[in-house]
Amino acid sequence: MTVDVTGDLMPAPARAAGAIHPLWLRVTHWINAVAVVIMIGSGWEIYNASPLFPFTFPRDITIGGWLAGALLWHFAAMWLLAVNGLVYVVLGIGTGRFRRKLLPVRAGEVVADTRLALRGELSYDDLTVYNAVQKLFYLGVIVASIVIVLSGLAMWKPVQLWWLAALFGGYEPARYVHFFAMAAIVGFFVLHVVMAFLVPKSLRAMITGR
Ligand code: HEM
Ligand code: HEM
Repeated sequence: MTVDVTGDLMPAPARAAGAIHPLWLRVTHWINAVAVVIMIGSGWEIYNASPLFPFTFPRDITIGGWLAGALLWHFAAMWLLAVNGLVYVVLGIGTGRFRRKLLPVRAGEVVADTRLALRGELSYDDLTVYNAVQKLFYLGVIVASIVIVLSGLAMWKPVQLWWLAALFGGYEPARYVHFFAMAAIVGFFVLHVVMAFLVPKSLRAMITGR
């Protein structure tokens, strides 16, 4: 393992072969994908026990079977999600990847790239750079993930973490924040997976690194 001039942690052979995504990114990305699926599925079952809105999620697509089972899944996978997410954010900042790949996001570029995307003219030839829409969505989902973890922690330990619960305005508002962050992550997820399969070489790069 060496640190190259761009600050990416990557094994020398992978770098020599021109890897697009370093190993740490691929590992944390796929662990995150598994953790998020478990958190959404179990979260929907928790929601069904006491719905915030006049609808419930179909039992077939929830995880845990009933409230207590779902809570067990939710509180088990939350460690996977939070620890893995922390590793990703620390390495993303520490290696300079966020600065190089996700920043800056300029409004003009987002508008221009959205227009191109809607016309199906956005180029995905160079997988080493993200377009402005991707940058915005990746940063957005990272922020939504931080919000969902903090609001989740506020509901998990509202007494010990009273200051965190207070930050959200109390337990009940934290539930709504948690729910809407989930909705944002689900929206991102659907679009993100569709794009991954529309541009299969990007999916290959997220698996093999190249
Ligand atoms: C550290 C991370 C997390 C913690 C500590 C946490 C904790 C909790 C707690 C305590 C509840 C029960 C709230 C209640 O019904 O009163 C809950 C509900 C829920 N969680 Fe999480 N959660 C976390 C992450 C996530 C993630 C990543 C997702 C999905 C992307 C998610 C989705 C949901 C959903 C949909 C509900 C049901 C909403 C409701 O009716 O309140 N959670 N979570
Ligand atoms: C089965 C599910 C998933 C698939 C197939 C998938 C696929 C991919 C692919 C192919 C890329 C590279 C995009 C490119 O090079 O143009 C990527 C990057 C990314 N994905 Fe996913 N993904 C999945 C789930 C998720 C989930 C659940 C999240 C977050 C909630 C997520 C967050 C991200 C982020 C933030 C990046 C950018 C990473 C970086 O460069 O630092 N993905 N994903």
